[in-house]
Amino acid sequence: MCGIVAYVGNKQCQNLLLEGLKRLEYRGYDSAGIATIQDGHIRVVKTVGRVANLEDKLEEVGGVRGTIGMCHTRWATHGGVTDPNAHPHTDDKSGICLIHNGIIENYASLKTYLEEKGHKFQSQTDTEVLAMLIGELYSPSEGVDLEAAVQAALREVTGAYGIVVMCDKEPDTLVAARKGSPLMVGVGNGEYLVASDGSAVVSHTSQAFALEDYQVVKLTPKGFRTSTIHNVPVTPKIQQLEIELESIELGAYSHFMQKEIFEQPKCLSNTFRGRIDTRDGKVVLGGLASFAKELTRAKRVILLGQGTALHAAMIGEYLMEDLAKVCAVAEYASEFRYRNPIIEENTVAIAVSQSGETADTLAALQEAKDRGALALGVINVVGSTMARETDAGVYLRVGPEIGVASTKAFVGQVAVLTLVSIFLGRRRFMSADQCAEVLKALETVPDKIQRILEHDAKIKSVTERYIDRENWLFLGRGYNYPTALEGALKLKEISYIHAEGMPAAEMKHGPIALINEGMPAVFIANRGRQYEKVISNIQEVKARGGRIIAVATEGDEQIKRHADDVFYVPDIPEALSPMLTVIPLQLMAYHAAVLRGHDVDKPRNLAKSVTVE
Ligand code: M6R
Repeated sequence: MCGIVAYVGNKQCQNLLLEGLKRLEYRGYDSAGIATIQDGHIRVVKTVGRVANLEDKLEEVGGVRGTIGMCHTRWATHGGVTDPNAHPHTDDKSGICLIHNGIIENYASLKTYLEEKGHKFQSQTDTEVLAMLIGELYSPSEGVDLEAAVQAALREVTGAYGIVVMCDKEPDTLVAARKGSPLMVGVGNGEYLVASDGSAVVSHTSQAFALEDYQVVKLTPKGFRTSTIHNVPVTPKIQQLEIELESIELGAYSHFMQKEIFEQPKCLSNTFRGRIDTRDGKVVLGGLASFAKELTRAKRVILLGQGTALHAAMIGEYLMEDLAKVCAVAEYASEFRYRNPIIEENTVAIAVSQSGETADTLAALQEAKDRGALALGVINVVGSTMARETDAGVYLRVGPEIGVASTKAFVGQVAVLTLVSIFLGRRRFMSADQCAEVLKALETVPDKIQRILEHDAKIKSVTERYIDRENWLFLGRGYNYPTALEGALKLKEISYIHAEGMPAAEMKHGPIALINEGMPAVFIANRGRQYEKVISNIQEVKARGGRIIAVATEGDEQIKRHADDVFYVPDIPEALSPMLTVIPLQLMAYHAAVLRGHDVDKPRNLAKSVTVE
């Protein structure tokens, strides 16, 4: 995905745009660019690299001026990471300038058509094709102004887009449109901002509206007009942005990932607030209340997600079966959407997602919904596409997650799936007393996470000892098999160390061949039904020269006989343990990345959420 910010009003906009762009850099950081209309002409400055590189380049060229402008941070899809492929893109005929997030799927045929008309392309991007197409259709003398040209072009396009367009012949007008890629409009006093998300807008205005799919907005300092791509007028709903500046700023932390790991106790308290009733032994989930009957009748729950969200969904599968006694399965959304899935009556599909924008999860949810499933969301970003597409859902309430490596969203997803499982379980098989017992334990999770965080220094020093190892294993069983997958993913994505996560028992079926002298194997060996079996697996690795790092339950002295290093977590019922056992793994990955000198919040090749297939 990419980050978009644009402005029209009466202020000089360069610095305002750059400030917004920095807040969106987590969305992509292959290249950055800015354009304004300066003295009646489009002025573009762009460069590969980060927003900081763009700032340097702007300084070299003396900056850009103008009260209308746009800027973009790119996560490359079509075309390599080069200056010409960076956004904004311009056309060669009509003075059009455009930024884009998404993929124009039919760009090749459109490009051929435009080349036949004599257009010359400077980049390999699909975006430049769209700029040229709008330029080709732009014809004010025939009544096709910028807004109409954008609408007409988008009627020819298949794929996903969030775009902002300006034209030097209409120097007071921005046109933005969306299909599939989020865009919101901040409404100020005689000024408007368009951005991929509210974090780039909130320091200027708290009034905003989201564009819906196939909607276009025309903005000038005098006002705005929203319509569909077929020019049918629509009235957007202006809402208050619920983002606190503090939640999107680093404060005293070195990285957002670190901040987000350390704020997990506070986040989970928010997740639980008003939802846990230990006195009556029940869970209160307003978002699900009107679907309680359908949920009680559920015969099958399908949990859909990708990456970290899938790992949370896998824990959800165990929780649903254990606590709600309903048949459950977690699936890669990307695989589910292209199968021919059988959705029987009384199936509930739950999309698990931090951003609520992941393309595969969205499509899989739609597929399940089209086939008759009740569509629920366990989502963090309020008002995101997924949140709007679902029949009902429960928000994580963990606040904006900016680090590309997901941490607090994972714990929030697991916490919400626990609440949903108990909500369901209570209506099916759990007594009020059983329910109250689990809920009391659940309420202790924030404090227990806090206790684990206090061991950060030890976790760092253990990580330091293994920092030169290039291959790691993460092993767990039952509820903590997905935790092992998550530990491996965290290490891979930010420290670029090869790591594999798997069920501890699976190791003997092949991967044990990998173990050599000194290879770190992280075992999640908290007390639970399979504790003894995990100890046997530890011995198998140790016997072959592996070094054992164990995550164990406080008070377990026996584990010290088997493990080289132990991170303790407080005791908790097994079903709730992943919210604790994952914390040392997050911290290890964080420290490994810092020790290796990597950019923790912006790991190479990644973007915060994947809004393309
Ligand atoms: O926004 P989502 O939760 O739908 O994103 C899904 C994955 O892309 C995401 O969890 C990814 O795996 C994380 N960045 C990993 O830390």
